[in-house]
Amino acid sequence: MPMSKSRFVVLAALGLVGVAVTLSRPVAAGPSASSPDAPRYAAGGRLILPADYREWVFLSSSIDMSYSATPVHQFDNVFAPRAAYRAFLKTGVWPDKTVLILENRGAASKGSITKSGQFQNGEVIGLEAHVKDAQRFKGGWGFFAFEGGKPGEMFPYTAACYACHQAHAAADTTFVQFYPTLLPVATRQGTLNPAYVAAEAQR
Ligand code: HEC
Repeated sequence: MPMSKSRFVVLAALGLVGVAVTLSRPVAAGPSASSPDAPRYAAGGRLILPADYREWVFLSSSIDMSYSATPVHQFDNVFAPRAAYRAFLKTGVWPDKTVLILENRGAASKGSITKSGQFQNGEVIGLEAHVKDAQRFKGGWGFFAFEGGKPGEMFPYTAACYACHQAHAAADTTFVQFYPTLLPVATRQGTLNPAYVAAEAQR
């Protein structure tokens, strides 16, 4: 049966609405300033602890990794917001307004049924953030530490955080050499830090 003209007009209009809806759907970009995972600051430029970082993408857990002479006995858990993680998978760099969280938890070896090995004993003993915010920070990134869930103070640019991350982190001043799902991405995308590549070549 031939389509009536009015029916055609209705179908064509529905089609256009469909195209408009498809076009306005956001592409997988990173967090924008208005996204719930974007950094939020309190007075004095202190960073507000993202309340739900434990629901973010888990990048890695390392144990007893210490960069000072003092030995530590703890796990380092690293988290990234889902949108930022997806953007990294596409580009090998973090989008602006990314907050990365490093959470330290105590390690224990005696408990429940375990006979050997280490597990996380529940307590958070350290909480730090690495934030990409091009407008706000010299070099694009700022470091923070939280205590008691209160907004975290920014570390001055002279703090060791900046120098170590810039010199040794594998991509975009972040330690993706220790984040097993991201190192292959940065390698493939060609976003590895040349200093990291050179140091690895010497090993
Ligand atoms: C001597 C090197 C070194 C210094 C100094 C350092 N870090 Fe890191 N940082 C690392 C390594 C290695 C990791 C990898 C994750 C881990 O610890 O397992 C890391 C990871 C992180 C992460 C997770 C996101 C990312 O960038 O990879 C945060 C947040 C972080 N550090 C904060 C800090 C803060 C805050 C300071 C300064 C008080 C600091 N770091 C100083 C080596 C360093």
